[in-house]
Parts: sequence; C-alpha cells; structure tokens
Amino acid sequence: MKRKVCVIGAGIIGLTSALTIQENVPEVEVTIVADTFTPNTTSDGSGGFWQPHLLNQSQSEKIRQLP
Ligand SMILES: *[C@@H]1O[C@H](CO)[C@@H](O)[C@H](O)[C@H]1NC(C)=O
Ligand SMILES: *[C@@H]1O[C@H](CO)[C@@H](O)[C@H](O)[C@H]1NC(C)=O
Repeated sequence: MKRKVCVIGAGIIGLTSALTIQENVPEVEVTIVADTFTPNTTSDGSGGFWQPHLLNQSQSEKIRQLP
C-alpha cells in the first residue's frame, strides 16, 4: 500500500523536502500544496541575492541583470 505524504510549500524547503521523501521512502506518493510556485516563491527572490558579494565586482552589471 502506498504511503501518502503532503508537503506544504513549493519553495526551496518544500521542493527539497518533497524530493528527499520521494527518493528515500519506498512506495510513497508525494503531493505538493502551495499558494505560489516558481518563479513567484520567496525562494526565487532570496536565491538571487545569495552571496553576490563573492562575485567579481568588475562585473556588477551582470550581477544586477535579471534572468
Ligand atoms: C507568477 O506571478 C505572475 C504575476 O502575478 C502570474 O502571472 C504567473 O501566473 C505566476 N506564475 C505561477 C507559476 O504561479
Ligand atoms: C574580474 O573580471 C575582470 C574582467 O573579466 C578580470 O580582468 C579580472 O581579472 C577579474 N578579477 C578577479 C579577481 O577575478
């Protein structure tokens, strides 16, 4: 019998949790429930700000460029 798991949230924590459960729990059915999905999650925004100070400052135009 399949186990059913519901993950609330589709940001980096939700998707990572869902994937980890899917890969490690045998015979599981994972459902993700969220009010927003990429590219509108908080994770999409905060991921873009992650450690830009480590990049070469001479390329600041590329750092500011939207995807
Ligand atoms: C993201 O937000 C925009 C603007 O509100 C919307 O048009 C789009 O459908 C949303 N995308 C998803 C995947 O929810
Ligand atoms: C920064 O980028 C410039 C232009 O690509 C390059 O000449 C320079 O060596 C880089 N500096 C560092 C510290 O990577």
